[in-house]
Amino acid sequence: MSRNGWLVVLAAPLWTAASPAGAEVCATCHAKEAARFHNTPMARALVPVSAAEILERNPSLTLETGGVRWSIVRQGDGSVMTVTRGSQSLTVPLLWAFGRGRAGQTYVFERGGVFYESRVSFYNALEGLDLTMGAPQHRGEEIEEAAGRRMDSLGARDCFGCHSSGAVVEGRLHLESIVPGVGCESCHGPAARHVEAVRAGDAAAAKMRPLSGSTAEDMAELCGKCHRTWSEIALRGPRGVNNVRFQPYRLVNSKCYGAGDARISCTACHDPHGPLETSAAAYDRRCAACHSAALHAKTCPAAKANCVTCHMPKIELPGAHARFTDHQIRIARAGDPYPN
Ligand code: HEC
Ligand code: HEC
Ligand code: HEC
Ligand code: HEC
Ligand code: HEC
Ligand code: HEC
Ligand code: HEC
Repeated sequence: MSRNGWLVVLAAPLWTAASPAGAEVCATCHAKEAARFHNTPMARALVPVSAAEILERNPSLTLETGGVRWSIVRQGDGSVMTVTRGSQSLTVPLLWAFGRGRAGQTYVFERGGVFYESRVSFYNALEGLDLTMGAPQHRGEEIEEAAGRRMDSLGARDCFGCHSSGAVVEGRLHLESIVPGVGCESCHGPAARHVEAVRAGDAAAAKMRPLSGSTAEDMAELCGKCHRTWSEIALRGPRGVNNVRFQPYRLVNSKCYGAGDARISCTACHDPHGPLETSAAAYDRRCAACHSAALHAKTCPAAKANCVTCHMPKIELPGAHARFTDHQIRIARAGDPYPN
């Protein structure tokens, strides 16, 4: 799939760690980063269904549309999905819950050694189920396909690869070593050697490449491993409002962007270890780093505060029941078309 959907499978990202160290290991020495990161949407981007709070809070969910009925019911510390179409019915145990952010959550189950992405997802805005974004209802014969979209092995690898650490070893899905959720090593790279070396007192081998001080371009590439890079979207789309969720692409297209300028890097505005700042005023000083009279730069004739409310508008993503922030910083006049 390429137009939209959670899944825009592109270049295989990621590391080839033989055995990832979970955040707990890093936490023994880097307590500050670990404590902040714990429980952020990124850290919780994937959980086993046994730990899916959304399903605990909503023990019975149903959706009926187009002659198909789905129900997801909590049973003990698991959940089962039943799909019924005419006289056909199928019940499958759900295994993995993907996503715990602004939009919602999609489930993955396994049948005959193949992973399926649930046709229905939970949406926070609805407090209930709707069709999974970008996954049109399947009208074929097999009831499995009405329950979920069959993933090929590359699709499954990428899906787990972006939502966890340690799930991909040497280019292959390797669930034995998964640490669910984005982890320290998802961004910092394999660190088993670092841990060993620190413990052994080997200062030279203990060095990790520090990520602070990266340029805007390096950071957009790093975050773009999962949030998609400019070139991935430029080459394959999607075009139109469906690309609003790919922040590196939008930001790089902005007049404010400068590849070598850290003041416009992802981490100039976001703490990679912390929760997302949702107060508009908190971003003002990020803009002021470049837009101030003192720097003889362009300043705003219209307002002095809450810059992002006008220049980074929030845009409804079709099918997601959620709005995303347009990172193409611009003068957004009412009625103007969405710039691509
Ligand atoms: C046994 C203690 C210990 C553990 C466990 C540990 N680190 Fe470190 N880490 C250190 C020390 C000490 C340094 C500073 C070493 C240096 O730069 O000379 C460091 C440095 C780093 C740096 C670079 C900091 C900088 O400013 O250069 C990163 C990134 C990092 N660690 C990440 C991790 C990750 C990710 C994990 C978990 C996989 C981890 N560390 C586990 C002790 C530890
Ligand atoms: C290994 C893949 C991966 C990498 C690398 C990554 N992210 Fe994410 N990020 C995710 C996923 C997956 C989510 C969605 C989490 C959810 O809502 O379930 C996410 C969500 C976010 C959010 C939204 C949090 C919220 O409250 O809704 C922000 C902000 C974010 N990432 C920033 C960054 C920045 C900045 C970087 C680079 C420093 C980065 N990410 C690198 C996978 C990644
Ligand atoms: C290339 C990396 C990548 C792949 C592959 C990927 N995701 Fe994601 N996913 C992300 C990032 C980054 C976000 C956060 C930004 C967004 O919502 O677009 C996200 C968000 C989500 C969300 C919404 C969370 C929320 O509420 O914000 C769900 C659900 C989700 N992904 C499920 C899946 C499933 C299921 C698969 C596999 C079929 C998959 N993703 C494949 C990177 C990826
Ligand atoms: C989403 C990507 C991401 C994740 C996940 C992440 N970090 Fe970082 N980390 C960064 C970035 C980017 C920086 C540099 C921030 C800056 O510019 O100040 C950083 C900085 C650090 C530093 C300071 C040294 C340096 O590289 O500048 C340490 C130590 C560190 N992280 C440890 C951790 C630990 C431990 C975890 C897991 C609990 C973790 N990080 C998870 C992206 C990440
Ligand atoms: C100039 C500041 C700025 C920069 C630079 C920036 N962001 Fe954001 N970002 C924001 C604001 C503002 C929000 C919306 C916060 C809110 O109100 O929820 C946001 C929200 C997000 C979200 C949550 C989903 C959404 O679209 O609302 C993600 C994910 C994200 N940014 C990723 C990134 C990545 C990756 C980069 C680097 C390519 C980046 N951001 C660079 C300001 C910035
Ligand atoms: C790295 C420095 C930098 C940062 C940070 C930055 N900008 Fe800019 N911005 C620029 C440059 C350079 C231009 C192009 C100026 C020109 O055309 O002379 C620009 C142009 C603009 C424009 C005019 C766009 C157009 O279409 O003509 C607006 C509006 C704007 N910035 C708003 C913001 C806001 C709001 C923020 C914070 C969210 C921000 N900028 C952050 C450097 C920056
Ligand atoms: C209430 C909405 C609003 C807010 C808030 C706002 N702006 Fe603007 N901004 C505009 C509009 C509208 C224009 C275009 C003005 C025109 O062309 O007549 C503009 C123009 C600009 C320009 C281009 C100026 C030029 O000479 O080309 C910059 C740069 C800019 N704003 C930056 C900012 C910054 C930085 C902030 C926060 C301090 C901010 N804006 C807050 C609405 C807003």
